[in-house]
Amino acid sequence: MQNFTFHNPTKIVFGKGQIAAIAQEIPADARVLVTYGAGSIKRNGVYGAVMAALPGRAVGAFGGIEPNPKYETLMRAVEKIRAEGWDYLLAVGGGSVLDGTKFIAAAVPFTGGDPWDIVAKGAEVKSAVPIGAVLTLPATGSESNAFAVISRESCGDKLAFSTPLVFPKFAVLDPEATFSLPPRQVANGVVDAFAHTLEQYLTFPAAAPLQDRFAEGILLTLIEVGPGTLADPTDYEARAAFMWTATLALNGLIGCGVPQDWVTHMIGHEITAMHGLDHAQTLAVVFPAVMDARRGPKRDKLLQYGERVWGIRSGSEDERIDAAIARTREFFSSLGVKTRFSEYGIGADVREKVAERFEKRGWRKLGERGDVGPKEASEILAYSL
Ligand code: NZQ
Ligand code: ZN
Repeated sequence: MQNFTFHNPTKIVFGKGQIAAIAQEIPADARVLVTYGAGSIKRNGVYGAVMAALPGRAVGAFGGIEPNPKYETLMRAVEKIRAEGWDYLLAVGGGSVLDGTKFIAAAVPFTGGDPWDIVAKGAEVKSAVPIGAVLTLPATGSESNAFAVISRESCGDKLAFSTPLVFPKFAVLDPEATFSLPPRQVANGVVDAFAHTLEQYLTFPAAAPLQDRFAEGILLTLIEVGPGTLADPTDYEARAAFMWTATLALNGLIGCGVPQDWVTHMIGHEITAMHGLDHAQTLAVVFPAVMDARRGPKRDKLLQYGERVWGIRSGSEDERIDAAIARTREFFSSLGVKTRFSEYGIGADVREKVAERFEKRGWRKLGERGDVGPKEASEILAYSL
């Protein structure tokens, strides 16, 4: 096992009716700006529950944070906060609202020039406005991690940044706040959590048997509860199981001391930036392609994944790997998420376009072995068409 430090400071407040608990989590004298998306929280009662939990508090609101949150939109919130003096951010929404709020939190006190440098150049974040979260879409794990992915319209980039300063102080996970999700977003959430787990598991053996079992437990749980929670969105227990599973997939625990990949995500972000596919839609295409193209370096873990997650025990090694890839594709397809770019009208030129973007970013050493660059990304995408 590799050396690691694990410190996850986000307090999770889980369950029915727990939005009321935000009053105890937010300091009484805080000036709270509620951040949200296009308005689903106003239709499903979540916004009302948040406001009802904060009577007599100084509360403002900033809406309009879009899926794949945009720098341009977020900077409007930064200006509002600087002008009006809000000092606590309450993000109410899915991964995009949470990620966007993390950027806002880091950008408000940033004095090193254009806050875009935090994302584009890894400029140091020295402080951030405190954040609380009410999650409405189980998928990204953003409610309990230090990552955010931000897009910029003017240059067509979608890039990630991370700093422990943007961990939410607390996150309310009320499964009932997710009942209004459309099927496409539930399916996306299952695929995203599955992919987060694979990024931290499908690498090479690292003498980390507990991390392997954690990861396999998450994958098996998603297979067990994913289709059911998609079919019956108001089944509380199924949605609760899914919601907690998605948080655990990317709160840092399963990645302790093990090699991690993240090539699928890096390629996927470029595809979203270029073609506008949902985040999880890109993952459902790229992950099976990564498994196929990288079957050599990932051989041992692919065989383990096939056996322990899908029960594949017979056939030659390559036959078993083929079967594991096929089962993965079938699972994503069964949720209604496509697994080939051709199904989205994206052609073979995607290989070159992604390779060019990797080249421009100087990405030559990605993946668990640090051996994925522009050429390898293009090779992977040959299996995605
Ligand atoms: O804008 P509103 O009206 O809220 O509607 C949203 C949006 O249209 C809707 N929605 C959310 N909760 C709802 C709801 N509709 C009805 N009822 C509810 N309860 O769902 C749509 C999609 O929301 P979004 O937040 O974009 O989805 P998701 O949570 O999948 O987040 C995706 C973003 O997170 C990034 C992705 O790249 C993408 O930008 N990621 C963040 C990560 C992180 N911070 O760790 C890791 C991930 O790998 C990922 O990259
Ligand atoms: Zn993801």
